[in-house]
Amino acid sequence: MLTTPFVILRALRGLLIRIGVIMDGKHHTALITGASAGIGRELAKLLAQDDYYLLLVARDGSRLSQSADELQRQFGITAKSFPLDLAAESAPQFLFDQLQREGVIIDVLVNNAGYGKLGAFAEIPLEESLGQIQLNITALTHLTKLFLGPMLERRSGKILNVASTAGFQPGPLMAVYYATKAYVVLRSSGE
Ligand SMILES: NC(=O)c1ccc[n+]([C@@H]2O[C@H](COP(=O)([O-])OP(=O)(O)OC[C@H]3O[C@@H](n4cnc5c(N)ncnc54)[C@H](OP(=O)(O)O)[C@@H]3O)[C@@H](O)[C@H]2O)c1
Repeated sequence: MLTTPFVILRALRGLLIRIGVIMDGKHHTALITGASAGIGRELAKLLAQDDYYLLLVARDGSRLSQSADELQRQFGITAKSFPLDLAAESAPQFLFDQLQREGVIIDVLVNNAGYGKLGAFAEIPLEESLGQIQLNITALTHLTKLFLGPMLERRSGKILNVASTAGFQPGPLMAVYYATKAYVVLRSSGE
């Protein structure tokens, strides 16, 4: 009696994998940006639970390799860290080229890295406003463009963009952040 729901769930999962709604993590690789903390770290754990090989990106290399080590120990998967500042203009192309050279196929791209600076627009330094746009919008768009091509060629792959409820309305003291997240919502909703 107790096994029936489990059997049904397994069959349903198998069906979803076959029709491509979800992917079996075995032998698949996920690239997660901003994977050393917060939501990115939690998403990395969920993908590790599903047996994905993980490629983790963030700026602080030691915090990142600590996360990779923990994931490997906890879930018995392979997790590699790739320390990189994605707000640097050339970073997405650099990352893509490096993985191409190593023959790494990315099955799932999680565009999670992003940040918001609190304060009145007029008082926030220009570089902070532009920095949010660069990371939350430009890097996300650039990475999506780069990794989407091979996915379309293979007719297989998934991209998850982490937006926010901030993307659905204007926000107090975080005008640029809210606007960047509106971009993420709209970009992810349109073809
Ligand atoms: N927290 C919330 O309440 C909330 C709500 C809705 C949506 N979100 C969205 O969820 C995403 C994650 O937010 P979070 O709060 O979990 O963030 P978080 O805890 O601040 O973690 C941010 C992650 O991104 C990395 N990162 C930051 N700047 C980077 C850069 N220039 N290049 C590469 N990696 C970078 C950080 O590591 P390093 O500092 O080492 O680079 C860290 O791993 C963001 O897109 C955010 O807008 C957050």
